[in-house]
Amino acid sequence: MRPKTKLIHGGSEGDVRVGDEATGAVNVPIYLSSTFKQDGPGRHRGYEYARTGNPTRAALEALIADLEGGVRGFAFASGMAAMTAVMMLFQQGDHVIVGDDVYGGTYRLMTRVLQRFGLEATFVDASAGGERAADGERHSADGGSSLRETDRPASLASAVRENTRAVLVETPTNPLLSVVDLEAVAAFCRQHGLLLIVDNTFMTPYWQNPFAYGADIVVHSATKYLSGHSDVVAGLVVVRDPELGERLHFLQNATGGVLAPHDAYLLIRGIRTLGVRMEAHEHNAAKIARFLSERKDVIRVYYPGLKTHPGHEVMARQARGFGGMISFEVDSGERAERIVRAVRLFTLAESLGAVESLISIPARMTHASIPPERRKALGITDGLVRLSVGIEDADDLVDDLAQAFEQAR
Ligand SMILES: Cc1ncc(COP(=O)(O)O)c(C=O)c1O
Repeated sequence: MRPKTKLIHGGSEGDVRVGDEATGAVNVPIYLSSTFKQDGPGRHRGYEYARTGNPTRAALEALIADLEGGVRGFAFASGMAAMTAVMMLFQQGDHVIVGDDVYGGTYRLMTRVLQRFGLEATFVDASAGGERAADGERHSADGGSSLRETDRPASLASAVRENTRAVLVETPTNPLLSVVDLEAVAAFCRQHGLLLIVDNTFMTPYWQNPFAYGADIVVHSATKYLSGHSDVVAGLVVVRDPELGERLHFLQNATGGVLAPHDAYLLIRGIRTLGVRMEAHEHNAAKIARFLSERKDVIRVYYPGLKTHPGHEVMARQARGFGGMISFEVDSGERAERIVRAVRLFTLAESLGAVESLISIPARMTHASIPPERRKALGITDGLVRLSVGIEDADDLVDDLAQAFEQAR
């Protein structure tokens, strides 16, 4: 099956998804049942208690496993619940290397929650091209791609310890859209016997499949593009090793942060249109990125689809698209605030990946949980504005930004 077909028919055993075998309903029913009748003590028909398994959730879990090319999927009540369950694979005294430009909530989980239980984390720049480049050292003359094979594994290698168990990266990263070379990082992980965990939220399986490059675990905040309509909070995990799948199922059941059946249904519905939406997001983002790059009052545009982006080449190799997220920098936090207040079609809100365009100031919103000095070191300045480009008419979005820049002068 080709990608768009798989979004609609994936996850089922036969050729065509049948929502409900009993009635022929084309949609997966929402099984609002917390428990299931047993034919005899301990003899059930696949479901016993809905924390352990629910048919609507199971349909979603089979679908995401299929879309990512893994063997087993797991649905959680949020992306952070999914990430927490993955981290429960490790023990007290273990160590995880984390890309230093990850979502602020992931940083907070690692540093303020899991650290208290003895899981250590070191944050390193895992990006392919040193897009952050505030310190010229990270910038290579040819746009950065020559750093690929050598520098990133070197920065990872300096963080490896005897107790290191895994590497966790996002690509592209949030909010600076740095690109991580999955193949290079996976090779590094194999060499050191580490699990590679990839947060694939920004790309979705429609554009990027980390397993194809050697990842072991894929995590999603399904709240974003997979759902696509700003109406669900959900997280997904996929593994490609059955034994890891068993361990994760144990953890999902033991810790209990499962996705409710109604939300699982909404997510299946969202995923059906993922292909057409992702293409529309990207079409609009490309147009807006061009518009921003031509403006003198924009200091920097972060969009991997631009040929000038240091991670462009790597991304073109490992992903089928460049996505709908753009960040750009203006000269001050005050100007950034004037812009976000002046837009009319972009909604000032956290989150991303839905049909409507959103705008945010990461330093004061999504990444406020990262200490100011650390934000500064990463390049998340007060003047950084992040756009989640929706699927409205691109010309309306460009016009809206243009009038906002005029008002923000
Ligand atoms: C890349 C990424 N990963 C994980 C999360 C956390 O997901 P959730 O908000 O569904 O818990 C987010 C949320 O913004 C995110 O952007």
